[in-house]
Amino acid sequence: MNSFSINFERVSFAYPGRDFLFQDLNLNLPGNQAILLTGENGSGKSTLAGLAASVLSPLSGKVSYPNLAQPNKKKPALYQKLAFLQQNIRNNLAGVNPREDLSLWLQGSDGSKQEKERFVKWALEQWKLQDKAEKPVWSMSTGELKSLALAGISLFPKRYWILDEPLAGLDSEHLDILLTLLQTRRKLNDGLLVVSHNAEPLLSSVDAVLHLNIDGSLKWER
Ligand SMILES: Nc1ncnc2c1ncn2[C@@H]1O[C@H](COP(=O)(O)OP(=O)(O)O)[C@@H](O)[C@H]1O
Ligand SMILES: [Mg+2]
Repeated sequence: MNSFSINFERVSFAYPGRDFLFQDLNLNLPGNQAILLTGENGSGKSTLAGLAASVLSPLSGKVSYPNLAQPNKKKPALYQKLAFLQQNIRNNLAGVNPREDLSLWLQGSDGSKQEKERFVKWALEQWKLQDKAEKPVWSMSTGELKSLALAGISLFPKRYWILDEPLAGLDSEHLDILLTLLQTRRKLNDGLLVVSHNAEPLLSSVDAVLHLNIDGSLKWER
């Protein structure tokens, strides 16, 4: 993990027909640090997260992953190293119920069927979803869906995590689960970019705080 990093080099980005959100942005996100990105709603945090995950492409400049093998075919290699919780968590859900959803995330990874089933069980328990394992996702509340999406990310502890607004919708029990998990990751120097307009609960889980101003500039606050 420590060799993974995300590098923004003179990145400019605007949505079609809109003003630039970023111009000539330079930024390095080391794979062994936990960074909180905060700022007002609409300042461009989710856009920056999307650029960092190569879900969005810059209009000019580049986002690169210096130590990633196969840099020219970066998407498949990248997503072995990076897990992205999108603000719209429906983009993170794949199955008809939690058990199927988590199993699908493990498709194609190493391990026997039994090992994967045990891993899914562990993630369901960790996120207190075991009683909802067969519940149709269409009947789940926003908070339950957020927990399920986070359980999916938890299946990949060794990847760099980008979490966009992970607190939104969580009840206090699941907020504690998330904060404990992030604090453990911080001790292990596992890489994290966590995006939240509500910085306070996350301050003890990160090494540094980056504030995105409404003019697209970034300022390190800690
Ligand atoms: N797909 C899109 N098309 C056009 N404008 C968008 C799109 N997504 C976001 N925006 C606009 O870009 C700005 C930044 O959005 P976003 O990155 O979601 O900010 P934040 O996550 O900080 O709230 C906002 O003005 C938003 O309305
Ligand atoms: Mg956002």
